[in-house]
Amino acid sequence: EKDGFDHYMLKEIYEQPRAYRETLQNRIDHENNKVDLSKEISLTPEEIRSLDKIHIVACGTAYHAGLVGKYVIENLVRVPVEVDVASEYRYRNPIITDKTLVMVISQSGETADTLAALREAQKRDAKVLAITNVNGSSVARDADEVLLTHAGPEIAVASTKAYTSQLIAIYLLGLYLAQIRGTQEDTVIANYLQAIKELPAQADKLLEFAPTMKQFAERYAHYEDLFFIGRSLDYAVSLEGSLKLKEISYVHSEAYPAGELKHGTLALITDGVPVIALATQEDIYDKMVSNIKEVKARDAYVLGIGLEGDQELAKSVDEVIAIPKTLPLLTPALSVIPLQLLAYYAALARGNDVDKPRNLAKSVTVE
Ligand code: M6R
Repeated sequence: EKDGFDHYMLKEIYEQPRAYRETLQNRIDHENNKVDLSKEISLTPEEIRSLDKIHIVACGTAYHAGLVGKYVIENLVRVPVEVDVASEYRYRNPIITDKTLVMVISQSGETADTLAALREAQKRDAKVLAITNVNGSSVARDADEVLLTHAGPEIAVASTKAYTSQLIAIYLLGLYLAQIRGTQEDTVIANYLQAIKELPAQADKLLEFAPTMKQFAERYAHYEDLFFIGRSLDYAVSLEGSLKLKEISYVHSEAYPAGELKHGTLALITDGVPVIALATQEDIYDKMVSNIKEVKARDAYVLGIGLEGDQELAKSVDEVIAIPKTLPLLTPALSVIPLQLLAYYAALARGNDVDKPRNLAKSVTVE
C-alpha cells in the first residue's frame, strides 16, 4: 500500500499535488472566477456579513495551519482572527458571541481537545465550522458547517498532506468570505484563483529538492539543535517545520520570529549551528535578510528558503532552496514541502521509525 515508497510519510509528501487538486475540485466556478462553497456551507450571506470575529482552534500541525489562516483571513476578509491551541482555548473562558465564527481544524476529526473546544463554542452560541479530512468523524458530525479536505487517508503520524490540504481549504474559505463581504475586487479574487490552480504543479516541482534536503539532513541530523527563522507567514511555516523535525527525528529545534532573535535566542547561535531561514515574503524581505546576516555573523550554517529569481539571498546564506513564485499568502503551501523532506530524511538518517515516532499516536483521543 506504500506504492513503492519506503514509508507512508514519504508517500504522503509526494501525494500533495494530488491532494491539492482534489481539495480544489468542484469548488471553483471557473467561468466566473469565483469560489463556490454554497453547496457545502449553509451560512447565509447575512450571517457571513454579520460576523465580527473568527476564532481558529486546533492542535499540533492543524494549529499551525490555523496560524497561516489568521494571515489569510485577516488579509482577505479584514475580520479579526484569533488562533488558539484547543487545550488552551477550552479553558480560557474565550469571549464568544453569536457573531463569532469558530473554526476548528482537525485531520482526524477525533482529537479530544478540539472536539471539546467545538462543544464549548457551541454552548456559547457560536457557529462552528470544521475543516477536517474525515467525513463522518466526531468533529464533522458535531460541527454546524463542514469543509472537507480531500487529502485521502493519512497514515504516518507526522502530518504532511493533511496540513497542506488544510491550507488549500483555508484559501478557498478566505476567498469565499471575501466575495460575500465584498472586501476584495473581482480581479484580485481571479488572480488568487489563477495562482491557486498553479499550486499543484509547483508543489510537484518542489519534490525535486528531495536529494538536496536528504544531503542537508544527513549532514546535520546528528546536531543537538537546529533553528528555523522567518517573519510573518514564514514564521508560521517555521513552526510547522520545527514540529515535524522534533516529532520524527528527535532533533531539538526551535522556530523563531526572526525579529525576536536579538531578544534572547541569538545567544544560542554559535559556530556551525544549523539555521533554516525562510525569506519568501517580499514585504519584509529586507528585514529578514538583515536577520540572516546577524546569524551568519555568528558563524551559523544557513540554509535559505527563498523565491525563484531571488539573486540576493544566495549572497547571505550557505545554500538556497528556491520556491516557485506565487502570491505571498499562498507561499506556505509550497515552502513547507522542503521542511517536510528535511524532517523525513533526518529521521531516516538517525535510524528512527519514521511513520511511528516514539511516544506519539496518530490521533489523540484523550485529553
Ligand atoms: O487529527 P488532528 O488534525 O486533530 O491532529 C492534531 C495533532 O495531533 C496532529 O496534527 C499532530 O500534531 C501531528 N502528529 C503533527 O505531525
